[in-house]
Amino acid sequence: PLVSMSEMLNKAKAEGYAVGQFNLNNLEFTQAILQAAEEEKSPVILGVSEGAARYMGGFKTIVNIVKSLMEEYNVTVPVAIHLDHGSSLEKCVQAIHAGFTSVMIDGSHHPLEENIAITKRVVEIAHAVGVSVEAELGRIGGQEDDLIVDDAEAAYAIPSECKALVEATGVDCFAPALGSVHGPYKGEPNLGFDHMKEIDSLVGIPLVLHGGTGIPTADIKKAIEFGHAKINVNTESQISSAKAVREVLAEKPDMYDPRKYLGPARDAIKETVKAKMQEFGSSNQA
Ligand code: G3H
Ligand code: ZN
Repeated sequence: PLVSMSEMLNKAKAEGYAVGQFNLNNLEFTQAILQAAEEEKSPVILGVSEGAARYMGGFKTIVNIVKSLMEEYNVTVPVAIHLDHGSSLEKCVQAIHAGFTSVMIDGSHHPLEENIAITKRVVEIAHAVGVSVEAELGRIGGQEDDLIVDDAEAAYAIPSECKALVEATGVDCFAPALGSVHGPYKGEPNLGFDHMKEIDSLVGIPLVLHGGTGIPTADIKKAIEFGHAKINVNTESQISSAKAVREVLAEKPDMYDPRKYLGPARDAIKETVKAKMQEFGSSNQA
């Protein structure tokens, strides 16, 4: 069923695993992620950035595609459709109106007071209709679609501010930037585990790790131990799907039927997502 994130994340946090947010980019991603979740018997969060929504034909189109595929595949696991890095109250309301079951309001580029104010308004509206909300503090480096944060701007979240934001807003889960990066890492990731531990004990709600691509398994396990119940992955699925397309087209340069190169891409995404579900411990938890 289509559900909000709150129940699945509270269960994950209580039981010591994390639910993956896998971002949608096109129809094949949507198919692959839903099939992976059902085969792994795993709850799943479908992440939709504003850029991906524009590409795929808008929020409503995506909700309709997801609902149709869930029916077609007889999906029984809990599925959330989540606005990733929502840039404004307006975008969050549009996503909710279209049928999204969860939204992120990313006010991390605003001063704290403004971030709190806008997040609070989103929570009031979302909770009135059973939609869950994620907020962010600090600045996650790297690039995802329209969101670009260079090395100098990337900043670790401050624990006291995290506590203030979570208490003032009533969000369901919270993403403190702690050194993770959108897109491939330049060198080894350097996650702020001391801050993480402190923030976890201060806020108590499920934490969210953005930039899940390229983080070593040992760090993933530690992040889960320190309160993370949601891990976002996009680039890794994009890399595996692009690799599959390149391989097929290199082998058969005359190929032109998209089903013959996007089919293998879809298989590759599915394998990537299934492996992540196993790594995060969400397999067989639905
Ligand atoms: O919000 C989406 C994620 O944080 C994805 O990060 O593309 O580095 O896996 P990633
Ligand atoms: Zn992100």
